Amino acid sequence: MSKVFVVDHPLIQHKVAILRDRNTPHKEFRELVEELSMLLAFEATRDLRTRDVEVETPLARTRGKSIAGYELAVVPILRAGLGMEPGITKLMPTARVGHVGIWRDPETLEPVTYYVKLPPDIAEREVMVLDPMLATGGSAAECVRLIKERGATRFKLMCLIAAPEGIARVHRDHPDVVIYTAAVDERLNDHGYILPGLGDAGDRLFGTR
Ligand code: PRP
Ligand code: URA
Repeated sequence: MSKVFVVDHPLIQHKVAILRDRNTPHKEFRELVEELSMLLAFEATRDLRTRDVEVETPLARTRGKSIAGYELAVVPILRAGLGMEPGITKLMPTARVGHVGIWRDPETLEPVTYYVKLPPDIAEREVMVLDPMLATGGSAAECVRLIKERGATRFKLMCLIAAPEGIARVHRDHPDVVIYTAAVDERLNDHGYILPGLGDAGDRLFGTR
């Protein structure tokens, strides 16, 4: 079933507005990407199963909950997905982290894969793909395709800003993938950039422009 969750909590909206601002310096931009990713992951892990545990407080014995096993692989798409990874792994420190390098050809806007390194047991894990900007959706769709080729079957795609075109592309190619995003914007411009968007996420994260 195709699903898009727009996580529009007031704190998230507030942080997204600062992220979009062209005057936000890259140090603050990077911190916001990390914070927003953690807040999104909080929502995206709502379906985690728990088991009852006994806990002894300083005053009494009581029952609590513990996560009942969660085999997760977090896969940032290089470069900009790297900015999201620390926010997710702070919440789930036992997650394995894979990396997929995909570059978007500026002429054709088609994804070009240049690096893949995934946990060997990726087929048994739920996979959280990280791509802050879902523009044409080509990079995310290609990343999911090549991870599916290695046997994985359960995917969540974490974005910060998604274009309707990108959501449609991912769900055309992979109707099973659940998308979590902080915002759905209007459209793409002629160069494949999201409007209003926030510009080039990689450059703003790493100060390369
Ligand atoms: C950007 C961004 C996404 C991709 C989205 O990567 O980080 O991965 O574009 O575009 P799409 O949905 O149209 O595929 P870019 O190619 O700029 O590489 P970078 O992250 O290394 O800067
Ligand atoms: N990649 C980005 O970083 N920003 C966009 O708006 C589109 C693709």
